[in-house]
Amino acid sequence: MCGIVGYVGHSTGQVNIEHKALDVVLEGLRRLEYRGYDSAGIAVVADGAIESRKKSGKLSNLIGELEGNPLPESMTGIGHTRWATHGGPTDQNAHPHLSDGGKLALIHNGIIENFAELKLELLNEGVTFISETDTEVAAALLGHIYRNQLGGDNSNGGLTKAMQLACQRLEGAFTLLAVHADQPDVVVAARRNSPLVVGLGEGENFLGSDVSGFIDYTRRAVELGQDQIVTITADSVEITDFFGAPAEGKEYHVDWDPASAEKGGYPSFMEKEIHDQPDAVAQTLLGRSDLEGKLTLDEMRIDPELLKHINKIIVLACGTSAYAGQVAKYAIERWCRIATEVELSHEFRYRDPIVDENTLVVSISQSGETMDTLMAVRYAKEQGAKTISICNTNGSTIPRESDAVLYTHAGPEIAVASTKAFLAQITAAYLLGLYLAQLRGNMFQGEIKDVLADLGKIPAKIQEILDHEDRIKDLGVEMANAKSVLFLGRHVGFPVAMEGALKLKELAYIHAEGFAAGELKHGPIALIEEGQPVFVIVPSPRGRDSLHAKVVSNIQEVRARGAKTIVIAEEGDEAVKAYAEHVFYIPPTPTLLAPLLSTVPLQIFALALASAKGYDVDQPRNLAKSVTVE
Ligand code: G6P
Repeated sequence: MCGIVGYVGHSTGQVNIEHKALDVVLEGLRRLEYRGYDSAGIAVVADGAIESRKKSGKLSNLIGELEGNPLPESMTGIGHTRWATHGGPTDQNAHPHLSDGGKLALIHNGIIENFAELKLELLNEGVTFISETDTEVAAALLGHIYRNQLGGDNSNGGLTKAMQLACQRLEGAFTLLAVHADQPDVVVAARRNSPLVVGLGEGENFLGSDVSGFIDYTRRAVELGQDQIVTITADSVEITDFFGAPAEGKEYHVDWDPASAEKGGYPSFMEKEIHDQPDAVAQTLLGRSDLEGKLTLDEMRIDPELLKHINKIIVLACGTSAYAGQVAKYAIERWCRIATEVELSHEFRYRDPIVDENTLVVSISQSGETMDTLMAVRYAKEQGAKTISICNTNGSTIPRESDAVLYTHAGPEIAVASTKAFLAQITAAYLLGLYLAQLRGNMFQGEIKDVLADLGKIPAKIQEILDHEDRIKDLGVEMANAKSVLFLGRHVGFPVAMEGALKLKELAYIHAEGFAAGELKHGPIALIEEGQPVFVIVPSPRGRDSLHAKVVSNIQEVRARGAKTIVIAEEGDEAVKAYAEHVFYIPPTPTLLAPLLSTVPLQIFALALASAKGYDVDQPRNLAKSVTVE
């Protein structure tokens, strides 16, 4: 899940552009740093030689290094920001890795699974290694092929040819970018099971793990297919497969605004993204139904006849996206009467799941690159299932490999802990549920229209919560020294409780658990002691069943044992006041839609508590935004 950038421009004076490789690559790395921040490195080709700098820690450390030890001016460069897999986050293990006597530099995202056997082979050939990384093995292999197999002959494809031959030997997942001192105007890249996009400029071209790597310079992007190699110069982009056969990429326009990838005046991306949520939900709903409430999901490329015969839905996702799936299960089963399972992607594949052509697999992924989810989707496809991806990142791998995609339009999410993508995922999954209900005749058109109208009111209600965020922020600051916080919920409130707990673990590094409120008495209640903070997500008292009364009883159970209860309840619910230390009200909404509101105070609480502890809420320790290893 490292971030990768590549750039080639014209030497000064040839065309009317003033970009320098170092500036472009550093700007790209700044935008891609969310992908990993264990170390950063950069290599440029200048005066017939490779010059590189790398530093462990965040990008700012590399920038500090460059100030003391500047790089020469250049028009060709590559840069990397790392999330460590093989080898700790040291200067030595940072990318780029060099080979061919320092004339070749390579950066890598992914894992080379057969690196040990290749390393042995290269050691026997007399190659030496200085790091513990699989990447250095790939660099050495590429250098060895370029020099020993091809004789350093650039008339016959040079680095591109060497990359093709190297990729034929590599197993695993990788995006590789390489530059060579003897081909100063070229960056060669390859991808297998790992993301890479090309940015098309005028007299300059770009490579990035995703479009934010070059969004400041161009909106024209090209998607690369699986097992492809691309060679960029300032004026050309050539794509082949691993065996040299010419291949085509698909060009598309990037509609993200660079400003929307910035903090918009908030102290952190996370805070900005929490405040983006009214818009994220509104954008996700936009243009997906007509005035009669008829859903028209243009992206739904699966034959409607096939969807009518679906008899099981399996939702696959990880982390926060999996909690969005758990919320969606309640609505989909209620609206479509189709049995719906939600499973963590990494568990799914290894349990011999029952999947066939009547199974609809719905993957949920903000990044569209989570390897666990990608592998699970591929497995489901092999078993004949129909696959739909709910995804926030245009052109990413999971939607590309799925039969259909329903994009969430939350805009770029930079903070590692997911917020606006979560609400947008629930919204999109609800649209999918309503669409299936419409198609299969499980709901009257008028009922669907009513739910859509209620969904349409959600953005304003989220805004109302945000307008009164100070009280929950104050509580976060007040509780900065809490050692453990529990979260309880029932029905759709249960996944919300787990998401609330996850936010606190991710951001504030304190013990937090979310429980089904009814399960408490079967064990977790033993954790309750005097002063234990417990958040309780209380369902609407207007619901038809007795959920509300049950949860109020659960509050009493923990309170009687000394818990300090913090309640999220619907406006007008006076009954909870007697049992709560603090009550935070959310605007009235139908039960199934309540997670789109009740999650918001929990996000604000975790953000405030972690900020009060002085932690970096955008880049929490040990985490990465996009986890592209299994
Ligand atoms: C990582 C992130 C989480 C995210 C999860 C799934 O673990 O830290 O915030 O929820 O991946 O990511 P996805 O991009 O598939 O939604």
